[in-house]
Amino acid sequence: MHIQTFITLTVILLCDAKLPRQKETYQINELPANPTQNAAAQRLLQFDRKTKTTSKIVDQYKVRNRRNVFDSKSYESGLIWAHSERLDESGDVVIRWVNSDSSITFRVEAKTKGYIGIGFNSRRNMRGADLVVAWVDDRNGNAQILDCHGPEIDNIAVADEVQNYELISGYQNETHTTIEFRRQLDTCDRQDFLIGDDTTQVLWALGPDGSDGELPKHVHSGSRPLRLLLPVPKPESIPLRHWDVRLFNLTIPHDMATLFWCKIFKAPDLPMKHHIVGYQPLIDSRPIRNGRPILEKNSLSPVHHMVMYECAEDLDKQMWNDWAESDGEFGPMRPREWASCVTPIAAWAMGSKGEFLPENVGIPLGEKGGVSYYMLEVHYDNQALHEVLDSSGIRIHYTPSLRAHDAALLGSGIGVSALHVIPPKQRQYRTVGICSPECSTNTMPEEGINIVSVLLHAHGQARKISLKHIRGNEELPRISEENSYDVHYQQSRIVPGGRKFLRGDTLITECTYDSTARDKPILGGYSVLQEMCLSFVLYYPRTELAGCYSMPPVQEFFETFGVKEFYGISMVQVENLFFSSGSLDNLPPQLELDFKQQQRAEETAVQGDDQGVGLLKELLIKEPPEFRNKTFIAHLNEMPWSESLLTEQIEKTLYRGTHMTFCKKRDDTWGAPIEIQNFPNFTELQNNETADKTCHYKSVKLPSVTTPNIANTINLSRFTLTALTAIQILYIMR
Ligand SMILES: *[C@@H]1O[C@H](CO)[C@@H](O)[C@H](O)[C@H]1NC(C)=O
Ligand SMILES: *[C@@H]1O[C@H](CO)[C@@H](O)[C@H](O)[C@H]1NC(C)=O
Ligand SMILES: *[C@@H]1O[C@H](CO)[C@@H](O)[C@H](O)[C@H]1NC(C)=O
Ligand SMILES: *[C@@H]1O[C@H](CO)[C@@H](O)[C@H](O)[C@H]1NC(C)=O
Ligand SMILES: *[C@@H]1O[C@H](CO)[C@@H](O)[C@H](O)[C@H]1NC(C)=O
Ligand SMILES: *[C@@H]1O[C@H](CO)[C@@H](O)[C@H](O)[C@H]1NC(C)=O
Repeated sequence: MHIQTFITLTVILLCDAKLPRQKETYQINELPANPTQNAAAQRLLQFDRKTKTTSKIVDQYKVRNRRNVFDSKSYESGLIWAHSERLDESGDVVIRWVNSDSSITFRVEAKTKGYIGIGFNSRRNMRGADLVVAWVDDRNGNAQILDCHGPEIDNIAVADEVQNYELISGYQNETHTTIEFRRQLDTCDRQDFLIGDDTTQVLWALGPDGSDGELPKHVHSGSRPLRLLLPVPKPESIPLRHWDVRLFNLTIPHDMATLFWCKIFKAPDLPMKHHIVGYQPLIDSRPIRNGRPILEKNSLSPVHHMVMYECAEDLDKQMWNDWAESDGEFGPMRPREWASCVTPIAAWAMGSKGEFLPENVGIPLGEKGGVSYYMLEVHYDNQALHEVLDSSGIRIHYTPSLRAHDAALLGSGIGVSALHVIPPKQRQYRTVGICSPECSTNTMPEEGINIVSVLLHAHGQARKISLKHIRGNEELPRISEENSYDVHYQQSRIVPGGRKFLRGDTLITECTYDSTARDKPILGGYSVLQEMCLSFVLYYPRTELAGCYSMPPVQEFFETFGVKEFYGISMVQVENLFFSSGSLDNLPPQLELDFKQQQRAEETAVQGDDQGVGLLKELLIKEPPEFRNKTFIAHLNEMPWSESLLTEQIEKTLYRGTHMTFCKKRDDTWGAPIEIQNFPNFTELQNNETADKTCHYKSVKLPSVTTPNIANTINLSRFTLTALTAIQILYIMR
């Protein structure tokens, strides 16, 4: 093992980027799979990583590297890059790529004359990352590449035992270094990252000038989430018109951690039907300091998400016009008529740069007899409790050149309420929201709908979200699936080839949370500290369906946590409260005063629209006697959450048990009666990822430079370590 490692390293330190000019004829060697590589890597980690002796290795590298200059620029791939993204704000690091079914080729241009480090990971740091380091030697122009990885326990780069990155070209000018390299999407090497449809955190680091082969600590670094194989649609080159839907100078008070603001807008006056083809956020938040709003670059905006809805009702035009002229309303206090604004047409959440719809669809705007009023809902998450003057909103892009299909968005998943409970200390806790077959039967056309793209949405503890498709007793392939969910990257996902969704089909949104960082149960809600599990589905042709959700039936919910009865309020009354989104308007009279007064004094009041959290804090348990006189929240907080038997049982009951389903139409009526249903009975899809598959183990052939004698004379475990240390001092971040 050590010998092999040593040889690999020696070879790496000496290798040149000499590749043949004709790429087509280039053969990559097949190497046998290396099942012990992880064990070896683990062993290496146990050694001390002092850098004292590294200079010896670097010197050795320098000596051996004195060879003829060759101009590696002439090997440039000349590929047409399908995608190009800036990795940093200023554009000093640009990554371009193009992929085939099995491999992916990158070009990185960076403003450095030192090394370029690029990493791929499911997290925004180097731990467990796949890293690749490349540089162009200032003295001879030779380019080098090194396949590395970050150990789980430290922010360093360690050379992989098998090199899976193939250098195509590398050169530098006075300011920039450009590197082109290629790898397999799946290298079958556990030290490499499997590049797939999930969000990939692309890490980058630039070494100081002249750091060629020495790899001291980087001078700049960062990361950016990207989907390398499922890129987002870009605006077309044709000019688009835009309509800015935004608030004006709303003062966000410093004492409200969560605030919803809603405002009505009148559609632009258009002579004929247009298509909305995209939207982008307009973030304009100015902290108020000493009574004055200040323009401050990089100040964090409290805008957390924004949704724009179509309003179905506009009977009293005068009234709606007045609303459109007004500044808007605090969410929970908005006029009752605004409840008809239920059909989402644009959903933005932090981290998104906006969306452009695929080229065959557009959302109608300015239709005769169509929608005249829209509601913008802005959710502020002001955990920092600053006073802010805000004029944020959404820029709607539209065009008179109509697309092939009229599209619409429908929301699905778990209805946002405090009943969406996630116990603390769980590594993989799953919750599920169902769109019932009755709902699709009643609202969809005979031939079904075509799903184009999906925005999966949850908050910070979510790790995976998937949108499942059930037909009869069968699960069809996932409509969309994200296994590395990043709350800071909320960009919709194209459904490749689209998906036909028929009447009677069921839609299931499943979320998996990691709550190990939390001590108390997480409740559903709009605050970043609470959780959601939603999917916004873009489809055509437009139907009457606007939203299709489920939540646990109230009685079953409380029974799951062992509670049978509360003082002064029946389960039915509690249920009614949840139907009215936990608002306290419909309380039985004997409780009303109490609740309202207490709630005002409570911290939940400043959380604004609390979706029933306040209610759970007030409900006093009567039965069973063991929990008597505790509030439900106190009971929930005190449950023994580290007992996996308990949490598994709760997860199973809430997941596989009954679900109360809601089917809301665009005109704010029900598309199917509210119903308590069993979890659908279906054969789950075989997950191909876990299935054993044959690995076509491929690796780049490196020039073989072996010095077998060394193996006999040097304590290899030590030497290997030292060699690794020399090339591993690459701290990327955090
Ligand atoms: C150096 O290369 C970079 C990246 O290819 C390019 O943008 C820049 O214009 C080049 N500078 C000079 C002076 O050629
Ligand atoms: C909003 O406030 C800014 C700064 O105080 C001011 O310049 C601007 O005119 C205001 N806009 C409106 C529409 O009132
Ligand atoms: C799993 O593989 C089979 C056969 O290759 C394929 O038909 C099926 O669609 C795959 N399932 C998923 C979820 O990709
Ligand atoms: C619970 O509270 C009720 C009314 O406040 C009181 O009468 C009763 O004794 C308490 N029971 C227990 C077990 O503390
Ligand atoms: C679920 O469906 C399968 C296959 O159709 C059937 O064998 C089974 O009895 C069903 N289970 C329940 C609980 O309905
Ligand atoms: C080799 O070095 C390691 C680490 O320094 C040490 O534990 C081991 O005893 C050495 N082996 C021999 C044969 O000297």
